[in-house]
Amino acid sequence: MKIQGKTALVTGASRGIGRAIALELAQQGIRRLLLVARNRQRLAEVAAEIERQGVLVVTLVLDLTQIVGVNIAIARAWRTYGPIDLLVNCAGVAHQAPFLESKLQNLQEEIATNLMGMYTMTRLIGRRMAARHEGTIVNVSSLMGKVAAPTMASYSATKFGIVGFTQALRGELARENIRVIALLPSLTDTDMARGLHLFRWVLPMTPQQVAKVLVAKLEKNSSEILVGWQSHLAVWFQRFFPSLLEKVLRIAAPLSRSKSFREKQNRQQATSNRKGFWRRVLDFGFLDLVDKRLIKGLIKL
Ligand SMILES: NC(=O)c1ccc[n+]([C@@H]2O[C@H](COP(=O)([O-])OP(=O)(O)OC[C@H]3O[C@@H](n4cnc5c(N)ncnc54)[C@H](OP(=O)(O)O)[C@@H]3O)[C@@H](O)[C@H]2O)c1
Repeated sequence: MKIQGKTALVTGASRGIGRAIALELAQQGIRRLLLVARNRQRLAEVAAEIERQGVLVVTLVLDLTQIVGVNIAIARAWRTYGPIDLLVNCAGVAHQAPFLESKLQNLQEEIATNLMGMYTMTRLIGRRMAARHEGTIVNVSSLMGKVAAPTMASYSATKFGIVGFTQALRGELARENIRVIALLPSLTDTDMARGLHLFRWVLPMTPQQVAKVLVAKLEKNSSEILVGWQSHLAVWFQRFFPSLLEKVLRIAAPLSRSKSFREKQNRQQATSNRKGFWRRVLDFGFLDLVDKRLIKGLIKL
């Protein structure tokens, strides 16, 4: 697709990769940008930076997990600002935790944002693109949507989901002349990455590098865009030496059990050892004279 003179909507545009994609699209000659995120102030700053390049900008302060609000805002934006040629579903959240101490509410947030948010946007804009028989949709997955790793189970599940979703839609929407592309960056230096325990040997990319690769590949016929040599290497290993890659990932992963998790386990172990001791004392039988209720009380400790 040629982006010159076109209109694009980018979610997650207030910072990180989404912001970099918006700036790169502006630099390469897009006509109008609709920027979506929750933080009004940050969106306004990005908008001001882009407007200085002579691009028309609209900011839509939206929480993608609030489906009704998103429906209303997108319908209004399409009516007011005209057709959207390019949708970039970039907004996302990541929670890292050893699975056994992970929290359901974090998984729910990842599903609501990474999957349902992307689904909602794609359906709203995809239907309108289909009516025009024209459009391009980019879904931002991750290298973790191809290669899963310890401590990132729920995030990886959503990113694998995005790859599957994208692949299915690509086949379906081709007849409507809509291209559907998956972007798979590896570790990128953003707020999201700064909140994670990093894997060994992985070198972060910059959001600008990711954005440049995407915009360059938009002109070509790519369906899945891997960013960076580390991603190509990991996917190659996954294909030809999956068990070797799994071993490497186990070594490279940050502590698969956090300190608090280990402490909790040690406490549980100590309690069960104590219970084991008193049970053995009871079984021995020479304490018939002692009040068994006392011992039962000790077992409960
Ligand atoms: N950083 C990496 O290493 C990496 C690697 C591979 C793939 N990715 C993917 O790239 C995408 C962008 O990540 P990033 O690193 O740029 O993360 P980031 O710096 O944390 O930015 C996340 C963006 O998503 C927006 N967002 C989050 N929840 C939202 C919600 N409920 N509604 C609307 N907007 C929401 C945030 O805006 P507000 O907070 O203002 O709402 C922000 O603009 C994500 O899909 C991520 O999974 C990142």
